[in-house]
Amino acid sequence: MTTADDVKARARERFGQYRHNYVTSDIHASGHDLDRLIEVVAPQADWLALDIATGGGHTALHVARHTRRVVATDFGLDMLVAAREYAQAQGAANLTFAGADAEQLPFAGQCFNLVTCRVAAHHFPDVYRFVVEAARVLKPGGLLAILDHLLPDDPRAADYIEAFETLRDPSHHRAFNEAEWRGLLLDAGLTVEHVEKLERAALLVPWAERQGCSPETIERLRIMLAQAPQAVAEWIRPRSVLSPDAGFDHVFILITGRKER
Ligand SMILES: C[S@@+](CC[C@H](N)C(=O)[O-])C[C@H]1O[C@@H](n2cnc3c(N)ncnc32)[C@H](O)[C@@H]1O
Repeated sequence: MTTADDVKARARERFGQYRHNYVTSDIHASGHDLDRLIEVVAPQADWLALDIATGGGHTALHVARHTRRVVATDFGLDMLVAAREYAQAQGAANLTFAGADAEQLPFAGQCFNLVTCRVAAHHFPDVYRFVVEAARVLKPGGLLAILDHLLPDDPRAADYIEAFETLRDPSHHRAFNEAEWRGLLLDAGLTVEHVEKLERAALLVPWAERQGCSPETIERLRIMLAQAPQAVAEWIRPRSVLSPDAGFDHVFILITGRKER
């Protein structure tokens, strides 16, 4: 049986191994989803923000341009070192880096005006615990903004997409549909303020290579795209699947929850 510790060890190991791919990834460093997150959150100059599972530090860097300080956290210490070097090279002076498990944040309650977590929650074995922890460290009136994979409501299509993601990255643990995300935030005592579906075009080969996939695994992923059932194809829109430019859409949710004042 796979335990929560196994899931975390796998994520830590893989992201440690491929950390430079994430620091240099254009897809993580910029994009419409990151722009929308900033627009929706509207960060303020006097805010103290926390970025959870910061990876290459890209969300933290974007938030830091608008706020007093961002504490960028990740449980992968190799990843944090790479992110810090990148942030220093960008001249960002208002970022602090700290090791932290998303499900057990080493911060006192009611510290932060904003908590962000982008493209990472699908790695956490206990997402509810992460949301509860994020809510705990928010100041009254503070905002949690999560951007992560969004699954369709159709359970079979969702299972197929989960299998596709897990084949590419075995540390992918679990994504959620919109109703599940809304429930997680509500159960943690947050008021859902904004929900948006975002799509981002991905190229199969660079996406798979970022996680070190072998040519055989890339072929399997290509076959999964080619054989996608209709409900899956309508969600992720595979294209040019047999060509070197094979692509599809990543579908994300941007959801925000406000802590009561
Ligand atoms: C795709 S990267 C995140 C991308 C980044 N947030 C961005 O916006 O560019 C996923 C990160 O989640 C981190 N991670 C996975 N599980 C975690 C956990 N339980 N606690 C903290 N970090 C975790 C990994 O170490 C990795 O750095």
